[in-house]
Amino acid sequence: LASIDVDLTPVPEGAAITVLWRGKPVFIRHRTAEEIKKAQAVQVAELKDPYAEVLGAPSDLPATDANRTKDGKSQWLVLIGICTHLGCVPKGQAPGDEKGPYGGWFCPCHGSMYDTAGRIRQGPAPRNLDVPPYQFTADTKILIG
Ligand code: FES
Repeated sequence: LASIDVDLTPVPEGAAITVLWRGKPVFIRHRTAEEIKKAQAVQVAELKDPYAEVLGAPSDLPATDANRTKDGKSQWLVLIGICTHLGCVPKGQAPGDEKGPYGGWFCPCHGSMYDTAGRIRQGPAPRNLDVPPYQFTADTKILIG
């Protein structure tokens, strides 16, 4: 399917779901206040990949947390769940998964570590996890694609 509707109502704070979009896993995390705070506190200059990597947006958009989320919806993080190193699916979605020291996702293949905005912080991956094109169609409903 080119576009998919996802109802976020059943995803409580602190939980995550994975949906499939164009054959790719899309990670949706309902971030906690702590996770948002951590993501917002990071300076772009500290990042290995300083670009937001939002598909369809200008390629030089800075990788701030605000640019990787939607206005007024910072609790929701939507990412393509494919490691930018060699394409493994990082861990961090299921309860109890190893999330790595930056609290986001950890790729078990070669140890890439992503933060709570899905940005690469350590390991061989060259780029932040991509943010797919999506929009809110209702308070807790998104259309991906
Ligand atoms: Fe993820 Fe290599 S594929 S670290």
